[in-house]
Amino acid sequence: MTDHNPALENLLTETRSFPPSAEFAAQANSTPELYEQAKADRLEFWADQARRFLTWDKPFSEVLDFSDAPKARWFGDGTLNATYNAVDRHVEAGNGDRVAILFEGEPGDTREITYADLQREVSQAANAIEALGVTTGDRVAIYLPMIPEAVIAMLACARIGATHSVVFGGFSAEALYSRIIDADAKLVITADGGYRRGKPSSLKPAVDEALTKGTTTVTNVLVVRRTGQDVAWTDGRDIWWHEALEAASAEHTPVPVEAEHPLFILYTSGTTGKPKGILHTTGGYLTQAAYTTYYTFDLKPESDVYWCTADVGWVTGHSYVTYGPLINGATQVIYEGTPDTPHKGRWWEIVAKHKVTILYTAPTAIRTCMKWGEDVPAEFDLSTLRVLGSVGEPINPEAWMWYRRVIGGDRTPVVDTWWQTETGAIMISPLPGVTAAKPGSAQTALPGIEVEIWDDAGKAVGPGGGGYLVINEPWPSMLRGIWGDEERFKETYWSRFPGTYFAGDGAKFDDDGDVWLLGRVDDVMNVSGHRLSTTEIESALVSHEWVAEAAVVGAKDDTTGQAVVAFVILRGEALEAAEAEGGDKVVGALRAHVAGEIGPIAKPRSILVVAELPKTRSGKIMRRLLRDVAENREVGDVTTLADSTVMDSISAGMAGGGD
Ligand code: WT7
Repeated sequence: MTDHNPALENLLTETRSFPPSAEFAAQANSTPELYEQAKADRLEFWADQARRFLTWDKPFSEVLDFSDAPKARWFGDGTLNATYNAVDRHVEAGNGDRVAILFEGEPGDTREITYADLQREVSQAANAIEALGVTTGDRVAIYLPMIPEAVIAMLACARIGATHSVVFGGFSAEALYSRIIDADAKLVITADGGYRRGKPSSLKPAVDEALTKGTTTVTNVLVVRRTGQDVAWTDGRDIWWHEALEAASAEHTPVPVEAEHPLFILYTSGTTGKPKGILHTTGGYLTQAAYTTYYTFDLKPESDVYWCTADVGWVTGHSYVTYGPLINGATQVIYEGTPDTPHKGRWWEIVAKHKVTILYTAPTAIRTCMKWGEDVPAEFDLSTLRVLGSVGEPINPEAWMWYRRVIGGDRTPVVDTWWQTETGAIMISPLPGVTAAKPGSAQTALPGIEVEIWDDAGKAVGPGGGGYLVINEPWPSMLRGIWGDEERFKETYWSRFPGTYFAGDGAKFDDDGDVWLLGRVDDVMNVSGHRLSTTEIESALVSHEWVAEAAVVGAKDDTTGQAVVAFVILRGEALEAAEAEGGDKVVGALRAHVAGEIGPIAKPRSILVVAELPKTRSGKIMRRLLRDVAENREVGDVTTLADSTVMDSISAGMAGGGD
């Protein structure tokens, strides 16, 4: 165990418990029997879910083939289409008039999109991208703001069996370029820009820049007009989305694909500098996305108004905006902007306006709202809310309690859902209506999911024990690999404990056997629920001509969970310039450089210029000691340092306010 959050360790004595009300339990989708059914025959349980939540073109006869482990095949001989399941069959069932998307643009524009509208637009988009030569098996990069077209573009790809690779709109041109190259994307779908904090921000220029960084396989760029700002245009390559859709037929037959056909690639940070393209396939992924949406949020598609605040640039937006809710036929809110634009009550205004019943968001957002004060949400009618969810990082019990009391009116169940880009869908969570919830704990593996906590030697620990979280049986929405890098897939997830999936998280069982997640045990940071790699940011820093060496750590932050803190050694000339001009300029330039290389979310909160970095005799940077400094703790054991005095000067620099 290298990296446990000590602040969480002493919370395991939590005694508060919130059993479901009799009223909620009586109407709940979940029942205690669900666990028993799954236990009785796990594979048959999943086969039931796959049949219940999805419509198959060709039914499967085989549930799981794990003979080529760690590569799993779920429902392998079945065929289906994701978009048919998310859209068309609801229209066929007579629910075409049901609203699928209630869109709120940041500037105040709104759109209501029914399932019938969605079918039309997705069909037009599918025809339009087919007309550009995109076909089953091709990859399409999607780089859009959080507007309905993002969901429509994903569904249009899935409709023709093209694999989408959504790149978060906050990532830089460089990050977009590397993702386009890695996946050999044929098409990029983007927008002129989007609205962010009350202003239009641009996206198309980043695509233009990305496509000049080297030779790519991209033949066209489809551009959604969102802000109306001027954009540079490459004739023959660039095409307006609205023109292409207008020219396209609104009839399109979804292409059935095999259950293991690649549905999407989504890049996430790992422990090395290069992001990993996490591969998800169709049948198993959709089964678990739909199943978890239904049970963990107690979703009633006919009556609920569901809102997951995540951007489709992250996995939460894939599973709990695009696929999970739409497969269930739900009505959902999509909001483009930030919670404080134009005022700090914007989210709560949206909840009141649309009578939102289910809200799913991240602890960092909850903590930010706590900071703004309870009188902000108090101005709005939040009484329609009936289930609250949390995801992305451990939720501290204070934030959990605030969420339930202030947002949930002391009445709603709160589900703390643990999962990862790699797991594809929720894995550990209370079930509303069944579980007596404990503030701060994700508690129990969902029915059908098997997790354990293992010690260093790979031995399972019992109640009260701690160690590494492992998933010891394959699950339907598990990643099927890292795009183009089978070795890395095996090495990253299946080698720490040979043959067993290692999630990278530390965890502990309390005396009741409930799971508490304790944060990452590797060099991965979690900033505002977004995963960042220390190594990736270090590489970005040393790619700047001024920087000789860099070390990055995630330091505890009251709002964002962790914050990026960098320690850099400058090259001689840069150091002289820094001394002459003042360090601020250098630090500012380096922060901007990281934003340019990766994206603004990776910008270090602080950068400390140091003369040396703490290293072991074998040359490994001891990040643990740097974290002590960054978190203002007394520096721990330095006996393995090659030069034990290094830490004294670094600590002195930090005390002097090195930023
Ligand atoms: C990492 C995965 C899952 C979608 C968003 C993040 C941390 C996630 C929780 C939770 C404690 C959590 C883990 C995990 N994490 N949810 N409820 N409690 N930690 O996806 O970017 O793939 O990050 O986020 O450390 O490994 P991701």
